[in-house]
Amino acid sequence: MAAVNISRHPLVLHKLALLRHIATEPKKFRELVRELTQFLIYEATLDLPLEPRAITTPLAPLTGARIAERIGLVPILRAGLGMVDPILDLIPTAHVWHLGVYRDHATLMPVTYYNKLPPEVDVDLCLVLDPMLATGGSACAAVDILKQWGAQRIAFLGLIAAPEGVQALQAAHPDVPIFLAALDERLNERGYIVPGLGDAGDRQFGTG
Ligand code: PRP
Ligand code: URA
Repeated sequence: MAAVNISRHPLVLHKLALLRHIATEPKKFRELVRELTQFLIYEATLDLPLEPRAITTPLAPLTGARIAERIGLVPILRAGLGMVDPILDLIPTAHVWHLGVYRDHATLMPVTYYNKLPPEVDVDLCLVLDPMLATGGSACAAVDILKQWGAQRIAFLGLIAAPEGVQALQAAHPDVPIFLAALDERLNERGYIVPGLGDAGDRQFGTG
């Protein structure tokens, strides 16, 4: 079973409290998503394989390092969009493949409405991006699609999860490590994470 990594970094915890706050408006909310994502991607890429890279400094030749893998970012629309640019700032060579998945409000089942994956797998590691892992339906659907596509290595990056979502993703895809800023208490009767932050898409894009 792949690990569930929950950040304990003080800056993550500080910013997460601001993100959750009901009074945090969309502009600030987007900034916080951006900052939290950069902390999480730092933790999620600690084990990325490296290969040697010969360079020359002004003083001497040196064998440095470069990332040996091609990385694909797979944001789940809509809310995963806000996690793309902060990662591209750090990994500008990453490819971005969008997947559109929303939860049906009545059944909470995932509905896939957009898939921009190319015909051939062109990355070594896929990072599925979505701030919220609630029932886990959307994340499982995204990972299903990536595996059917042929992706070999997949990780999930989210900000807040419910235990139900983590269990569902681990049960369906035990090989997929999960990186989070927080694991919350539970889902409510409408499938929202409690205490959570509300609807991550609405709060980012001002559509609540
Ligand atoms: C939210 C969130 C996840 C999903 C999580 O998206 O961004 O994609 O719900 O819930 P689940 O784990 O129960 O599937 P939503 O369906 O609200 O779509 P949106 O981002 O377009 O608003
Ligand atoms: N999607 C959200 O945006 N928030 C939740 O709490 C659950 C699903």
